[in-house]
Amino acid sequence: MKDPIISAIEARRTVNLFDASRGIEQEQIGELIRLATTAPTAFNLQNWRFIAAHTAEAKARLRKIAWDQAKVTEAAVTFIVCGQLADYKTIPDRLAPSVAAGLMPEQMVPGWEGAAKSLYHDQPLRQRDEAVRTATFGAGTLIYAAQAMGLGSSPMIGFDAEAVAEEFGLAEDEIAVLLVAVGEPLAENWPQKPRRPLEQVLSVV
Ligand SMILES: Cc1cc2nc3c(=O)[nH]c(=O)nc-3n(C[C@H](O)[C@H](O)[C@H](O)COP(=O)(O)O)c2cc1C
Repeated sequence: MKDPIISAIEARRTVNLFDASRGIEQEQIGELIRLATTAPTAFNLQNWRFIAAHTAEAKARLRKIAWDQAKVTEAAVTFIVCGQLADYKTIPDRLAPSVAAGLMPEQMVPGWEGAAKSLYHDQPLRQRDEAVRTATFGAGTLIYAAQAMGLGSSPMIGFDAEAVAEEFGLAEDEIAVLLVAVGEPLAENWPQKPRRPLEQVLSVV
Protein backbone atom coordinates (compact mmCIF):
# COMPACT_ATOMS: atom_id res chain seq x y z
CA MET A 1 0.00 0.00 0.00
CA LYS A 2 1.26 3.44 -0.88
CA ASP A 3 2.25 5.71 1.96
CA PRO A 4 -0.76 7.97 2.72
CA ILE A 5 1.41 11.09 2.87
CA ILE A 6 2.80 10.41 -0.60
CA SER A 7 -0.75 9.73 -1.83
CA ALA A 8 -1.89 13.09 -0.39
CA ILE A 9 1.03 14.92 -2.04
CA GLU A 10 0.23 13.30 -5.38
CA ALA A 11 -3.52 13.87 -5.14
CA ARG A 12 -3.47 17.52 -4.04
CA ARG A 13 -4.56 19.99 -6.65
CA THR A 14 -5.60 23.59 -6.64
CA VAL A 15 -9.36 23.65 -6.29
CA ASN A 16 -11.19 26.21 -8.39
CA LEU A 17 -14.74 25.08 -7.73
CA PHE A 18 -15.94 24.61 -4.17
CA ASP A 19 -19.33 23.31 -3.05
CA ALA A 20 -20.73 26.52 -1.55
CA SER A 21 -23.41 24.55 0.32
CA ARG A 22 -20.80 22.78 2.49
CA GLY A 23 -19.56 24.63 5.55
CA ILE A 24 -16.88 23.89 8.11
CA GLU A 25 -17.08 23.78 11.91
CA GLN A 26 -14.99 26.18 13.96
CA GLU A 27 -13.38 23.14 15.60
CA GLN A 28 -12.09 21.94 12.22
CA ILE A 29 -10.71 25.40 11.50
CA GLY A 30 -8.80 25.19 14.77
CA GLU A 31 -7.51 21.73 13.88
CA LEU A 32 -6.33 22.90 10.44
CA ILE A 33 -4.34 25.72 12.02
CA ARG A 34 -3.01 23.52 14.82
CA LEU A 35 -1.60 21.26 12.12
CA ALA A 36 -0.40 24.20 9.97
CA THR A 37 1.60 25.56 12.91
CA THR A 38 3.60 22.34 13.16
CA ALA A 39 5.48 23.65 10.10
CA PRO A 40 9.09 24.60 10.74
CA THR A 41 10.14 28.25 11.11
CA ALA A 42 13.60 29.78 11.50
CA PHE A 43 14.66 29.62 15.19
CA ASN A 44 11.10 28.40 15.87
CA LEU A 45 10.10 32.07 15.53
CA GLN A 46 6.53 31.13 14.57
CA ASN A 47 6.16 34.63 13.13
CA TRP A 48 2.78 34.03 11.59
CA ARG A 49 -0.91 34.71 12.12
CA PHE A 50 -3.90 33.13 10.43
CA ILE A 51 -7.15 35.02 9.98
CA ALA A 52 -10.05 32.72 9.10
CA ALA A 53 -12.73 34.47 7.04
CA HIS A 54 -15.57 32.14 8.00
CA THR A 55 -18.79 34.13 8.00
CA ALA A 56 -20.46 35.02 4.69
CA GLU A 57 -19.93 38.67 5.58
CA ALA A 58 -16.18 38.31 6.22
CA LYS A 59 -15.69 36.27 3.06
CA ALA A 60 -17.59 38.88 1.01
CA ARG A 61 -15.40 41.67 2.41
CA LEU A 62 -12.33 39.65 1.46
CA ARG A 63 -13.58 38.73 -2.01
CA LYS A 64 -14.00 42.43 -2.88
CA ILE A 65 -10.28 42.99 -2.39
CA ALA A 66 -9.23 39.62 -3.85
CA TRP A 67 -9.87 40.22 -7.53
CA ASP A 68 -13.49 39.17 -6.98
CA GLN A 69 -12.35 35.53 -7.04
CA ALA A 70 -15.49 33.45 -6.49
CA LYS A 71 -13.71 30.78 -4.49
CA VAL A 72 -13.05 33.25 -1.69
CA THR A 73 -16.76 33.14 -0.83
CA GLU A 74 -17.63 29.67 -2.19
CA ALA A 75 -15.04 27.92 -0.03
CA ALA A 76 -16.12 27.03 3.50
CA VAL A 77 -13.34 29.22 4.90
CA THR A 78 -10.68 31.43 3.38
CA PHE A 79 -7.56 32.01 5.44
CA ILE A 80 -5.44 35.13 5.29
CA VAL A 81 -1.99 33.78 6.03
CA CYS A 82 0.11 36.55 7.54
CA GLY A 83 3.83 36.64 8.14
CA GLN A 84 5.31 38.86 10.85
CA LEU A 85 8.63 40.67 10.34
CA ALA A 86 11.29 38.56 12.05
CA ASP A 87 12.12 40.06 15.45
CA TYR A 88 14.98 38.46 17.42
CA LYS A 89 13.54 39.86 20.67
CA THR A 90 10.67 37.36 20.49
CA ILE A 91 13.09 34.41 20.72
CA PRO A 92 13.18 33.86 24.52
CA ASP A 93 9.39 33.81 24.61
CA ARG A 94 9.11 31.49 21.59
CA LEU A 95 11.71 29.07 22.99
CA ALA A 96 10.39 29.05 26.57
CA PRO A 97 8.05 26.07 25.96
CA SER A 98 10.97 24.04 24.55
CA VAL A 99 13.00 24.84 27.68
CA ALA A 100 10.02 23.99 29.91
CA ALA A 101 9.57 20.69 28.09
CA GLY A 102 13.18 19.81 28.81
CA LEU A 103 14.10 19.72 25.14
CA MET A 104 16.39 22.69 25.17
CA PRO A 105 18.85 23.70 27.89
CA GLU A 106 18.11 27.24 29.08
CA GLN A 107 21.74 28.31 28.46
CA MET A 108 21.22 27.68 24.77
CA VAL A 109 18.60 30.43 24.38
CA PRO A 110 20.93 33.47 24.38
CA GLY A 111 22.97 31.79 21.62
CA TRP A 112 19.90 31.44 19.42
CA GLU A 113 18.83 34.98 20.23
CA GLY A 114 22.30 36.28 19.33
CA ALA A 115 22.30 34.38 16.04
CA ALA A 116 18.86 35.78 15.20
CA LYS A 117 20.00 39.29 16.13
CA SER A 118 23.00 39.02 13.82
CA LEU A 119 20.71 37.90 11.03
CA TYR A 120 17.71 40.24 11.37
CA HIS A 121 18.61 43.30 13.45
CA ASP A 122 18.45 46.42 11.24
CA GLN A 123 17.94 44.14 8.21
CA PRO A 124 14.44 44.98 6.93
CA LEU A 125 14.75 42.86 3.80
CA ARG A 126 15.76 39.77 5.79
CA GLN A 127 12.97 40.43 8.29
CA ARG A 128 10.50 40.53 5.43
CA ASP A 129 11.97 37.50 3.65
CA GLU A 130 11.55 35.52 6.88
CA ALA A 131 7.94 36.68 7.22
CA VAL A 132 7.22 35.46 3.70
CA ARG A 133 9.08 32.17 4.23
CA THR A 134 7.26 31.49 7.49
CA ALA A 135 3.82 32.24 6.06
CA THR A 136 4.59 30.11 3.01
CA PHE A 137 5.58 27.10 5.12
CA GLY A 138 2.43 27.63 7.18
CA ALA A 139 0.26 27.85 4.09
CA GLY A 140 1.91 24.77 2.57
CA THR A 141 1.31 22.71 5.69
CA LEU A 142 -2.26 24.02 5.90
CA ILE A 143 -2.87 22.83 2.35
CA TYR A 144 -1.72 19.30 3.15
CA ALA A 145 -3.60 19.27 6.45
CA ALA A 146 -6.74 20.12 4.48
CA GLN A 147 -5.95 17.31 2.03
CA ALA A 148 -5.53 14.86 4.91
CA MET A 149 -8.88 15.96 6.32
CA GLY A 150 -10.56 15.23 2.97
CA LEU A 151 -10.87 18.90 2.00
CA GLY A 152 -9.69 20.79 -1.06
CA SER A 153 -7.66 23.98 -1.04
CA SER A 154 -6.52 26.86 -3.17
CA PRO A 155 -3.59 29.15 -2.49
CA MET A 156 -4.08 32.67 -3.88
CA ILE A 157 -1.88 35.66 -4.47
CA GLY A 158 -4.63 37.46 -6.40
CA PHE A 159 -5.50 40.09 -3.77
CA ASP A 160 -4.61 43.62 -2.79
CA ALA A 161 -2.27 43.12 0.18
CA GLU A 162 -2.53 46.74 1.38
CA ALA A 163 -6.33 46.65 1.24
CA VAL A 164 -6.39 43.33 3.13
CA ALA A 165 -4.10 44.79 5.81
CA GLU A 166 -6.43 47.75 6.20
CA GLU A 167 -9.72 45.83 6.07
CA PHE A 168 -8.66 43.09 8.50
CA GLY A 169 -6.61 45.23 10.88
CA LEU A 170 -3.14 43.78 10.34
CA ALA A 171 -0.44 45.15 12.64
CA GLU A 172 2.44 47.28 11.32
CA ASP A 173 4.77 44.27 11.35
CA GLU A 174 2.32 41.93 9.57
CA ILE A 175 2.16 41.11 5.87
CA ALA A 176 -0.71 39.32 4.14
CA VAL A 177 1.35 36.75 2.24
CA LEU A 178 -1.23 34.34 0.86
CA LEU A 179 -4.91 33.53 0.93
CA VAL A 180 -5.81 29.85 1.25
CA ALA A 181 -9.39 28.85 0.48
CA VAL A 182 -10.46 25.51 2.02
CA GLY A 183 -13.65 23.56 1.49
CA GLU A 184 -15.39 20.70 -0.20
CA PRO A 185 -14.28 20.45 -3.85
CA LEU A 186 -16.82 19.92 -6.62
CA ALA A 187 -16.26 16.93 -8.90
CA GLU A 188 -15.56 19.13 -11.97
CA ASN A 189 -12.17 20.36 -10.73
CA TRP A 190 -9.08 19.65 -12.78
CA PRO A 191 -6.61 17.15 -11.39
CA GLN A 192 -3.13 18.31 -10.46
CA LYS A 193 -1.48 19.84 -13.54
CA PRO A 194 1.60 18.26 -15.12
CA ARG A 195 4.93 19.51 -13.83
CA ARG A 196 8.16 20.42 -15.59
CA PRO A 197 10.41 17.41 -16.15
CA LEU A 198 12.86 16.59 -13.40
CA GLU A 199 15.90 17.29 -15.56
CA GLN A 200 14.81 20.93 -15.88
CA VAL A 201 14.39 21.51 -12.18
CA LEU A 202 16.88 19.21 -10.46
CA SER A 203 20.66 19.54 -10.38
CA VAL A 204 22.47 16.89 -8.40
CA VAL A 205 25.97 18.07 -7.66
C1 LIG B 1 1.74 31.54 -4.57
C2 LIG B 1 0.55 31.05 -5.35
C3 LIG B 1 -0.41 31.95 -5.74
C4 LIG B 1 -1.55 31.52 -6.44
N1 LIG B 1 -2.53 32.43 -6.72
C5 LIG B 1 -3.68 32.00 -7.29
C6 LIG B 1 -4.78 32.86 -7.43
O1 LIG B 1 -4.77 34.02 -7.02
N2 LIG B 1 -5.90 32.38 -8.04
C7 LIG B 1 -5.97 31.09 -8.47
O2 LIG B 1 -7.02 30.71 -9.00
N3 LIG B 1 -4.95 30.23 -8.31
C8 LIG B 1 -3.81 30.65 -7.73
N4 LIG B 1 -2.77 29.77 -7.51
C9 LIG B 1 -2.91 28.36 -7.94
C10 LIG B 1 -1.97 28.01 -9.09
O3 LIG B 1 -2.45 28.53 -10.30
C11 LIG B 1 -1.85 26.48 -9.13
O4 LIG B 1 -1.23 26.04 -7.93
C12 LIG B 1 -1.03 26.00 -10.31
O5 LIG B 1 -1.69 26.30 -11.51
C13 LIG B 1 -0.80 24.50 -10.23
O6 LIG B 1 -2.04 23.83 -10.15
P1 LIG B 1 -2.17 22.47 -9.32
O7 LIG B 1 -1.70 22.81 -7.95
O8 LIG B 1 -3.62 22.13 -9.36
O9 LIG B 1 -1.34 21.45 -10.02
C14 LIG B 1 -1.67 30.17 -6.81
C15 LIG B 1 -0.67 29.26 -6.40
C16 LIG B 1 0.41 29.69 -5.66
C17 LIG B 1 1.43 28.68 -5.20
